[in-house]
Amino acid sequence: MNIKFEEREELKEKIKDVNNLGFGQYFTDYMFLMNYDEDTGWHDARIVPYDNISLPPSAMCLHYGQTIFEGLKAYRNGDKVFLFRPDENFKRMNRSNDRLCIPPIDEEFMVEALKKLIDLERDWIPDSKEASLYIRPFVIAIDPKLGVHPSGSYLLMIILSPSGPYYKDGLAPIKIYVEDKYVRTVKGGLGTAKAGGNYAASLKSQVEAEEKGFSQVLWIDGVNRKYIEEVGSMNIFFVTEDEIMTPELSGSILPGITRKSIIELLKSEGKKVVERRISIEEILTLHKEGKLLEIFGTGTAAVISPVGELFYEGTEIIVNNGEIGEISNYLYNELTDIQWGRKKGPEGWQVEV
Ligand code: COI
Repeated sequence: MNIKFEEREELKEKIKDVNNLGFGQYFTDYMFLMNYDEDTGWHDARIVPYDNISLPPSAMCLHYGQTIFEGLKAYRNGDKVFLFRPDENFKRMNRSNDRLCIPPIDEEFMVEALKKLIDLERDWIPDSKEASLYIRPFVIAIDPKLGVHPSGSYLLMIILSPSGPYYKDGLAPIKIYVEDKYVRTVKGGLGTAKAGGNYAASLKSQVEAEEKGFSQVLWIDGVNRKYIEEVGSMNIFFVTEDEIMTPELSGSILPGITRKSIIELLKSEGKKVVERRISIEEILTLHKEGKLLEIFGTGTAAVISPVGELFYEGTEIIVNNGEIGEISNYLYNELTDIQWGRKKGPEGWQVEV
């Protein structure tokens, strides 16, 4: 909803203190919109004041979940502002679109449109090492129809939220519950798409895990119930003496852009990174033998998030004495140095606005 000018100035002052920010709670003055219909294709790209939108109660997204989203960030370094690999987000958006029968967008056009919006909202980008401007592009199906078919019309939006760390304790290692009851998705389902429904499917499990004192759940595969997939809001990596491993993109895991970047960074430094099937039993054994050195998650919102504890069917796996490990710490610094433009990253990773 539009807030009065004076109130927005007050809000801007308030959130200069990063501790008041939280994640995804406050939104900037403007947003980007673009419509699709079958006759015109994508059209009417526009930047307008952030405000409520009006939809018919019959809009298809409200009934059948034909909606996808993306997440990326803008980082401030003095007067400079950087986006991190935004082309990858719009590529992934198109893969999600394809899976949900949403027409493709022009990826290059979207990067340029995003740069315009960010430039307009520069003032909202926090000047902090711990906070950034979270960017949420998304598409909703808006045909006013109740038949179960792909919609013929869509609305694409980008909203912006100055945000602090996703986890309230920042880099403090988190406790994760290995989900043994619910299933997020299976191969052939929506798991590789960034679809709202995947997150809806995770809520029950997330609530129950939180009630038990955990901040996230780790999903295991829905068929064998033994291979590790991903955490609620991030991909996951395991560090042993010999290698760094992460579950392969099996067809039910979200292909994270931070995941991909971390693999590329580690490989460029000559580290051994393997993407393969990893069973929870293997992790238990590695832990028992003292060979599991670190676990960390990767995600746009979560950045690099050390895991201090995994809990699986009554067994507690305490990792690195519940403290942040050397590799997680190194990767956090390396990645954030590149994202904030304090260090030159690989070609194309830093897009200045
Ligand atoms: C992100 O990391 O951008 C995500 O989309 C995860 C979550 C906030 C849903």
